[in-house]
Amino acid sequence: MIIPSEQVSLKHLLTVEALSDQEVMGLIRRGQEFKNGVQWMPQRRQYFAANLFFENSTRTHKSFDVAERRLGLEVIEFDITTSSVQKGETLYDTVLTLSALGIDIAVIRHGDENYYDELIQSKTIQCSIVNGGDGSGQHPSQCLLDLMTIYQEFDGFNGLKVAIVGDITHSRVAKSNMQMLKRLGTEVYFSGPEIWYDESFEVYGHYQPLDELIPEMDVIMLLRVQHERHDGKESFSKEAYHREYGLTIEREAKMKKSAIIMHPAPVNRDVEIADSLVESLKSRIVEQMTNGVYVRMAILEAILNGKA
Ligand code: CP
Repeated sequence: MIIPSEQVSLKHLLTVEALSDQEVMGLIRRGQEFKNGVQWMPQRRQYFAANLFFENSTRTHKSFDVAERRLGLEVIEFDITTSSVQKGETLYDTVLTLSALGIDIAVIRHGDENYYDELIQSKTIQCSIVNGGDGSGQHPSQCLLDLMTIYQEFDGFNGLKVAIVGDITHSRVAKSNMQMLKRLGTEVYFSGPEIWYDESFEVYGHYQPLDELIPEMDVIMLLRVQHERHDGKESFSKEAYHREYGLTIEREAKMKKSAIIMHPAPVNRDVEIADSLVESLKSRIVEQMTNGVYVRMAILEAILNGKA
């Protein structure tokens, strides 16, 4: 059954696994409709949103901010550094407080995987939780914007070949994307340093050296090297990483004519990707950021539908 895109209805958005294929496609299509200028119905009552970022963010934080304001939500400023988190207040008590104040939606990024479990199990916390990234767990809104970017380019997923390249072990983007891309019928491949590859990923795709993958792939999806999650054993010089595992000018020249380059960003220029390729013809990195606003509008609208 195809759900009309504006009628997707969610209580929370925590993982991509929890979404049905119909909900995923509905959110992507709705994101595209927003991008094409479709207007949304003004809300019958005032809704409040708060964005709680316990880890640093530019894209996710600010695009949720823009999406909320475009939908007419009241955005309550919440800065971890000046909040009672600094007095030792826990995540649970922070969200409990915001819920008691009447916040309807809390967008949360936190370093702990599955931080949301205790929040959604609470009988007192009433607000919806949107996961803006949990440690190395999942990043569902990034996954949806990545899917929207691929769909926009290829008009579907079935049979596409996508390579996920780089720091896969520490990447919540990779975890969400490998699951959903496989479910939607793409052929998933992996590459990058073998120390950042885990056999558990074999369920979704296969590891191959990057130079074998480059001429075959429709999408080269690069991942940021996540220095903040490394324990010091994993050291590559920038030059060595770029030479062995990065998208160099020479590798880009061997990509299919129709293939595209993606990266969730922030980008380490001249490490994962050559500086001059970030804004090149094949790159969709800037488009991904723009799509992030529209797909997040679709997510927020679906949460509001769940409250209606
Ligand atoms: N892609 C991404 O999550 O970027 P930010 O960390 O800037 O939000």
